[in-house]
Amino acid sequence: MKNFDYQTPTRLIFGKGVVKEKLGNVMKLFGQRVLITYGGGSIKRIAKGESISLYDEVKDILHDKDLFELPGIQPNPKFNPSVLEGVRICQEEKIDVILSVGGGSVLDCTKAIAGVAGTLGGKVYENIEEAWDIVCGRKPTTAAIPIVDIITLAATGSEYDMGAVISRTETNDKLPYRSQFVFPAVSFIDPTYTFSLPVKQTLAGVSDCMNHIMESYFCAEHIDMNDAFMEGAQKSLIKNVRIVLENPEDYNARAEIFYATTLGCNGIYCLGNSRSGWPMHSMEHALSAYYDITHGEGLAIIAPRWMRHILTHSTGILHEQVVERIEKFGKNVFGVEGCEASITALHNFFREIGIPMTLKEVGIDEVRLGEMAKHVADTEGLNQAWVPLLEQDILDIFKASL
Ligand code: NZQ
Ligand code: ZN
Repeated sequence: MKNFDYQTPTRLIFGKGVVKEKLGNVMKLFGQRVLITYGGGSIKRIAKGESISLYDEVKDILHDKDLFELPGIQPNPKFNPSVLEGVRICQEEKIDVILSVGGGSVLDCTKAIAGVAGTLGGKVYENIEEAWDIVCGRKPTTAAIPIVDIITLAATGSEYDMGAVISRTETNDKLPYRSQFVFPAVSFIDPTYTFSLPVKQTLAGVSDCMNHIMESYFCAEHIDMNDAFMEGAQKSLIKNVRIVLENPEDYNARAEIFYATTLGCNGIYCLGNSRSGWPMHSMEHALSAYYDITHGEGLAIIAPRWMRHILTHSTGILHEQVVERIEKFGKNVFGVEGCEASITALHNFFREIGIPMTLKEVGIDEVRLGEMAKHVADTEGLNQAWVPLLEQDILDIFKASL
């Protein structure tokens, strides 16, 4: 078992009605000037009770604050304009706290705003590269504006981690931004907000979390307790997404899914394990950077092809490890025997619930596969992954996903 050093400073407030019950008191802890960040308008449609939307409810609770707004944050959130615009508002309006209301994209964008504005302090950047240097990690984040969030999509686990993923359109980059300073201070998780999710987003969220778990499960050194946690979380997701497909307003099923996704990207499922290098995410980030596809769909497409590739391209002790992991995954998650059955069960599950399982179905053809494979090989360090992947391996996996 590997050593670990673990701390998550985020307070989780989970359950039905928690925003109404506690948001007002929580926000008193952080000051008067509040920037509310949100996306394309879903929070104005998520209805609580009879008629009031989540947006109206939040504004009502915070009526005695000085409120500023950054709307329009897109999925796969963009550095330019969203992060830059948020930094400008924080600096000009001397924001005390940012309240993110929406999915993982809104929260990720908020984390980047908080870290860049906190690190720059009052110093307005002279050109956008100065802000980008902080996002891409060339310059360290040294402070952040506190973040509170109301997360409305069960997927990324951004509400309980210190990561964000930010896209820069002009360079086709989609990069992780990580800092201890951008853990949310408080995350509100009310599963009833997910009743209104389009089926596509519900499924993509489940796929995203299943992949976070797989990125932690498929590694060289692992411990029994983590395996049991992760297999249990996968089984809960598989069972409860089927229930939600029948009845989108089944509270317990939505709550089980949210609980699994909240813990899914925080590292807590795999304390003591060795690192895998997160190969599926590294490859998917290129797909969503080049084609702006939905993250969880890209992951579902990649996952079984990556599993088959590492099974057929590994040798010696590494191959034994790969076989052991894939077999155990199949047996304990899907109740099947053997590697081939395990990979097929995963693929068929995604297909059964309705996720598109080829690149062509999400609008990606062969034209830019080579360019993307090179981009991943050059930037993601997958030659150091548990099962190392070179440019040709990545290209083969993309081609097998067509
Ligand atoms: O923009 P609005 O109108 O709010 O609509 C959103 C968006 O169109 C909608 N939505 C969100 N909550 C809703 C809702 N619609 C109805 N009812 C609700 N309750 O759903 C759409 C997708 O939202 P988005 O925030 O993009 O989805 P998600 O939460 O899956 O976030 C995806 C992003 O997170 C990154 C991904 O790469 C991607 O950019 N990731 C972040 C991670 C992290 N911070 O740790 C880890 C992940 O691996 C992932 O890479
Ligand atoms: Zn993910």
